[in-house]
Amino acid sequence: MEIKQQIQLIATCKFGLEAVVKRELEELGFTDLRVTNGSVEFDAVMSDIPTVNLWLRAAERVLLKVATFTAMNFDELYDQMRAIAWEKWIPADGYFPVNAKVHKSTIDSVRSTQSIAKKAIVDRLMEAHAADSLPETGAEYAVLVTILKEEVLLTLDSSGDGLHKRGYRLETGEAPLRETMAAALVLLSFWNPSRLLIDPFCGSGTILIEAAMIGRNMAPGLNRPFYASEEWPFVEGWREARAKAAEAVLDTPMQLFGYDIDPAVIPIAKRNAERAGVDEDITFNVKDVKELWIDQQYGIIISNMPYGERVSDYKALNKIYVSLHHTFRKKKGWSLFLLTADTMFRLYFKRQTPNRSRKLYNGNIRVYYYQYHGEREIVNG
Ligand SMILES: C[S@@+](CC[C@H](N)C(=O)[O-])C[C@H]1O[C@@H](n2cnc3c(N)ncnc32)[C@H](O)[C@@H]1O
Repeated sequence: MEIKQQIQLIATCKFGLEAVVKRELEELGFTDLRVTNGSVEFDAVMSDIPTVNLWLRAAERVLLKVATFTAMNFDELYDQMRAIAWEKWIPADGYFPVNAKVHKSTIDSVRSTQSIAKKAIVDRLMEAHAADSLPETGAEYAVLVTILKEEVLLTLDSSGDGLHKRGYRLETGEAPLRETMAAALVLLSFWNPSRLLIDPFCGSGTILIEAAMIGRNMAPGLNRPFYASEEWPFVEGWREARAKAAEAVLDTPMQLFGYDIDPAVIPIAKRNAERAGVDEDITFNVKDVKELWIDQQYGIIISNMPYGERVSDYKALNKIYVSLHHTFRKKKGWSLFLLTADTMFRLYFKRQTPNRSRKLYNGNIRVYYYQYHGEREIVNG
């Protein structure tokens, strides 16, 4: 297969984060980005696969587009799928689990779609590789069949495990934030490495660790041991891309502070930061937010607030909101970026009306990212 062959890649992401992933891809040098719900498609060459997998911070996976066609029923689906030159991608020993997503289609069974798609690929590969059986003992080529109305999209998953698995977070506290979401919160904020950043509800440290990695220009995948496409013979450049990412790391002085009321999570956060290689950049300490004392004029808070389910939780939460309000009421130079699932938050945190609020999804929970913009620091010279 020709290495310089034009391909289309699709970076998938959580709903609401498409613009962040688009900007990340632009910064990596890609143009003509096609954004749809939960994904960004773009033109690339094979050797871009390692780069985008290693560098995208807010995307969930990178999919290689194999084909699109229309199908109204299972017969058409089988025929069209069998006509595709799968042998170009999947070798005789390749392992190819098939998953499907079906939406608003006359083809309305996920399970039947999966088994018909699998059968079509098996039939095609047995014939093309002249094989009596397919052992599926080799590298993984996970096929995803996405059907929207009568449009069928076929992709191969170049990532393997989701990109949120960076390799550093082996332990968590309660309700940890996905690494991809934590990175997105930082990328959506005004933070840059010269600005003081505090996460007063830091839990296992995810937001600060992602910020430190951004500040050091450290690829989020630098510590991750494996991606599915590292074993694909037609994808070259993994070793070079990893070496380049290792060289790109900067020594950036930063002021990052993480606090949490739970003494059990602080050592976890420290160990996660150590595994990520950013432990020297972040100071973690046990602290109740009610004791948070700020004497700097300017800074940024990015945090994933605790949330509750019981009335007693709401009472405790309310106290937390009120104390946050008291701490920051007169701190005009502070910007606050707060993620919460609690729709009452805006009422109790009376700093001002948020300058912006975004609806996002943390797992399957709908959450709000409230942004309170502080005054900008005037830097002379
Ligand atoms: C949603 S979790 C944060 C998870 C974190 N973003 C992560 O990725 O691990 C909220 C955290 O707030 C902490 N917390 C609850 N009440 C607090 C308080 N009064 N002061 C400081 N931290 C508190 C909890 O211990 C919990 O770790």
